[in-house]
Amino acid sequence: MSLLSVSNIGISFGGVVAVDEVSFQVAPGEVFSIIGPNGAGKTTLFNLVTGIYKPLHGKVLLDGAEVAGLAPHLLVRRGMARTFQNLQIFFRMSALENVMVGCHLAERSFLLADLLGLPSVGRQNRLTRERAMALLTRVGLERHADTEAGGLSYGVLKRLEIARALAAEPRILFLDEPAAGCNAVETEAIDHLIVEIARSGTAVVLIEHDMKLVMRISDRVLVLAQGRPLAEGAPLAVRDNPAVIAAYLGNHGQKEAQRAHG
Ligand SMILES: Nc1ncnc2c1ncn2[C@@H]1O[C@H](COP(=O)(O)OP(=O)(O)OP(=O)(O)O)[C@@H](O)[C@H]1O
Ligand SMILES: [Mg+2]
Repeated sequence: MSLLSVSNIGISFGGVVAVDEVSFQVAPGEVFSIIGPNGAGKTTLFNLVTGIYKPLHGKVLLDGAEVAGLAPHLLVRRGMARTFQNLQIFFRMSALENVMVGCHLAERSFLLADLLGLPSVGRQNRLTRERAMALLTRVGLERHADTEAGGLSYGVLKRLEIARALAAEPRILFLDEPAAGCNAVETEAIDHLIVEIARSGTAVVLIEHDMKLVMRISDRVLVLAQGRPLAEGAPLAVRDNPAVIAAYLGNHGQKEAQRAHG
């Protein structure tokens, strides 16, 4: 059985079909990438699967159980975590505190115990701090732990978001353009991190415009165009698919195809 199975999912906004009849499956430890031109429906597809939007039709099965329409925080507890295309960082908090927020969100008992002032809270906070530090170390940001997030570079913040998502100990992690705006060195760090996450057994569903990155680390690639699936398969097969070259990124298709070969 697949870890995640999405079938015939779709949604429209004011009569405009943003995602239409999209299906895909993801297995544990796999890197599954979703590519396509701007406005193809990639982020909307993430929003449908991670509970931000309720699908108009279609199914989302996690471990075989229907989860379409469940609220995001419930999906997090079932093992789904994500990052956002636009950074969702608390800039006035330190890097460590940003990750601690993710840890707290994953701890069911946090709010209630905190409100009741239970003695376990102090111990729990220490444990949370240690867990957050371990996550920062995992993404290679331990030296930035006490730095205010607002003072960190964009590439560092992208990894900080991933650390915060990992706090939920997800079995499937959705990354919406984790390398966007990153330089070559930062992109390579993200590349290694994604591979490490997948090797640890967590499936990664990746939206990314950087074709070199997609080609290097993906097990399978789904191409969307105008909300519909255009092709799906191994990276090289997708890269060389004429329909994909013709449609992908419009006029830039040829250039992107060449870049992907490089
Ligand atoms: N909440 C919304 N209300 C109305 N239209 C929306 C909404 N969200 C997305 N859309 C529309 O759905 C389509 C798909 O948008 P989406 O953001 O999913 O594309 P994308 O593939 O992620 O693009 P990009 O590569 O630029 O991030 C677009 O036409 C967009 O304008
Ligand atoms: Mg998007």
